[in-house]
Amino acid sequence: MPAMIYLTIKLVHIFSVFIYGGFLFTDNLFLSRMKKDLTTDEHSIVREYFMQYVRKVVPKALIVAVASGIYLFYVNFGVIGDEGWSNFQILLGIKGFLGSWLGLRGVLQVFFGIQPLVFKSHLFPFLLVIIIIILSQLMFSV
Ligand code: HEM
Repeated sequence: MPAMIYLTIKLVHIFSVFIYGGFLFTDNLFLSRMKKDLTTDEHSIVREYFMQYVRKVVPKALIVAVASGIYLFYVNFGVIGDEGWSNFQILLGIKGFLGSWLGLRGVLQVFFGIQPLVFKSHLFPFLLVIIIIILSQLMFSV
């Protein structure tokens, strides 16, 4: 039974991360190209139209990703041994920190209107997501 719960929450993590990361991939790889073909006015209209739907789903997916991530972290991290943090614990710690940072940044921005001071574009979260995905695969084999 606990294995079923774990599997379910891991799937929730993967799908929410998919929605959040999927938006960042789409925005940075494809939507950013619209700017070249449209006038400034056209671009702001099209972008706003698109973002209207993005805002309904993507920030919630990010919250689900962080919440499910905290559960997975809790199950996986284990106790810190006498020799200090294991390599797994270090990479998972970095992954969890970066993921939580994205989560905090997203919540402050979307729900409290606090704009991040640095890295206003979506390029920074995009790069972080790529790093997090790589860490998520590396951490189990170091
Ligand atoms: C937007 C942020 C996040 C992204 C893009 C992300 C992405 C991923 C991906 C791609 C996996 C691999 C799944 C697999 O190989 O089956 C994963 C697993 C995991 N994530 Fe996240 N994650 C995020 C946030 C978090 C947070 C905030 C935490 C912890 C506080 C966390 C903890 C974990 C753990 C422990 C696993 C391993 C689960 C397992 O393989 O059994 N994640 N994450």
